[in-house]
Amino acid sequence: MCGIVGYIGNKKATSLLLDGLKKLEYRGYDSAGFCVLDDNQFCLIKKKGKVSELEAQTQKISIGGSIGIAHTRWATHGAPNEINAHPHLDCTGNIAIVHNGIIENYQALKTALKKEGHKIISQTDSEIIAHLVEKFYQNGNLENAVASTIKCLEGTFGLLVLDKNQAKIVAVKKGSPLLLGIGKKQMFIASDASAVISQTKKIVYLDDNEIVSVTYDGYTIKNLQGQLVDKKIVQLKFTIDQIEKRGFKHFMQKEIFWQPQAIENTLRGRISKNRVKLSLKLNPKEINRIIITACGTSWHSALIGKYLIEKLTGIPTEVDYASEFRYRDPIIKKNDLVIVISQSGETADTLSALKEAKQKGAKTLGIINVVGSTIAREVDSGIYLYAGPEIGVASTKAFTCQVTALILLANYLKSGDKEILAELVKIPQKVSLALKLSGKIRHIAEKFKESKNFLYLGRNVNFPVALEGALKLKEISYIHAEGYPAAEMKHGPIALVDENMPVVFIAPKDNTYLKIISNMEEIKARGGKIIAIVNSTDSKIKNLADYIIKVPKTLDILSPIINVIPLQLLAYHIADLKNLNVDKPRNLAKSVTVE
Ligand code: F6R
Repeated sequence: MCGIVGYIGNKKATSLLLDGLKKLEYRGYDSAGFCVLDDNQFCLIKKKGKVSELEAQTQKISIGGSIGIAHTRWATHGAPNEINAHPHLDCTGNIAIVHNGIIENYQALKTALKKEGHKIISQTDSEIIAHLVEKFYQNGNLENAVASTIKCLEGTFGLLVLDKNQAKIVAVKKGSPLLLGIGKKQMFIASDASAVISQTKKIVYLDDNEIVSVTYDGYTIKNLQGQLVDKKIVQLKFTIDQIEKRGFKHFMQKEIFWQPQAIENTLRGRISKNRVKLSLKLNPKEINRIIITACGTSWHSALIGKYLIEKLTGIPTEVDYASEFRYRDPIIKKNDLVIVISQSGETADTLSALKEAKQKGAKTLGIINVVGSTIAREVDSGIYLYAGPEIGVASTKAFTCQVTALILLANYLKSGDKEILAELVKIPQKVSLALKLSGKIRHIAEKFKESKNFLYLGRNVNFPVALEGALKLKEISYIHAEGYPAAEMKHGPIALVDENMPVVFIAPKDNTYLKIISNMEEIKARGGKIIAIVNSTDSKIKNLADYIIKVPKTLDILSPIINVIPLQLLAYHIADLKNLNVDKPRNLAKSVTVE
């Protein structure tokens, strides 16, 4: 996890670094720090807690200097405190580093460095990097020292190294994201584009083991053999408005309400004359089996994908948690297609699963939101969501856009289904109608905000929606919630049901409707409180449910996109009414770049 940013230019580094950290805070927020070179001296400030606390500390002192590095942390090794916060220094105090990722062999390196006399003061895996750079530093050649250092490291890193003696930042990455932002008389190196977009849209995405050297005179990028690498400068397409709140109280709320536009962006230009247009490097006729792998919310979309793809194409489809796929030596056959789904495109488990699939010879396809992310660059071909940056830690618009992309994909693999595609273009409008239920859902949230447990039940393609509703509630309101296939409820969870148990049913009028009604009867008989998501035309369930939420009717196969909206809103309103930190829930980070 963690977010890193470096700056060199003609402005005061501190405010630009703090601004960058605020944008990266979704990657971690238990401590933060920066090191700025001011008048040939390092000014190093670290603080436990959020970037705002670091900023408050900074306002008490005047700091000059126009070159520096900064970090916002999500603790992996060592408690969140000031000593473990980055940047870390070497023994001489001339080298400062910030690191994102995990150094797996840090214990062995730490023991060896201590034997050599290095004084290591933190419990982190990162500090040893500063000492290794110190060890290999000769004749002022920082690039060589960094190249020798990374040869010793096992694990993942995005790394910035600041040298006090030559006003230079050297950066390198392996497995963690890093990019260079090129502005007018200033340059940035950061974990992602949100940290730099207010200053520049010209970006160079760095690849593993490329050593970037940035000074006031410009930058160079070399490979480990010391040869210059020619890299493309990419123009970013998203705007600063897209990553600001624009009048909403929280990013999550903005992202929920932004879904009609986000889904339109995913669809734009991809449906024409009852056909889906995608530029994918694969021949649908050659695919025997599909495996979809992902984590968290993206895994829920993958489950929906299984229902969709099997129903629409007849291609057998399996779904795996990326973390499980990676370690169970999966069987991959010649004409298998492995699909990876990831909002960030940086999730470590998903990236590892992708590498495993590639290594075993699978064709790969990504469904990714963040353009230029590591997974997006590793897959054979892919579908971008174009949902815009998702800042709230709890994923919302990425989920509905992922399902949209999966529907497009299923229709691409088989010749497009006229009825489905005609209805798909109406979905943004129907999502807008579902969003109008926000006021009513806030009222329901008031009634249940003190509940200790929730059950979410759905069937068929709406079973993963139940899982997603439960995950949203857990993540941001800290209320225990479980999602289940409605019929499984009687095989165990029903034992939990009493008058204190709210049960959310997703009950569209599909072929399981009557069965769901029976499941509701079973809950009602035990005193459970029923909140039912039903179609606008439904008249039966009102006698059974305590609270009814009526959403627009659509085709069964598209209904997850509509049915998830009230569940996102319910979780959002409960967390907001409890005054919780909706956008940055405890213990979570937006982009899970550790395995
Ligand atoms: C839940 C959530 C996480 C992510 C998961 C995968 O709201 O955001 O469960 O879905 O960490 O992240 P991506 O999609 O970036 O690979």
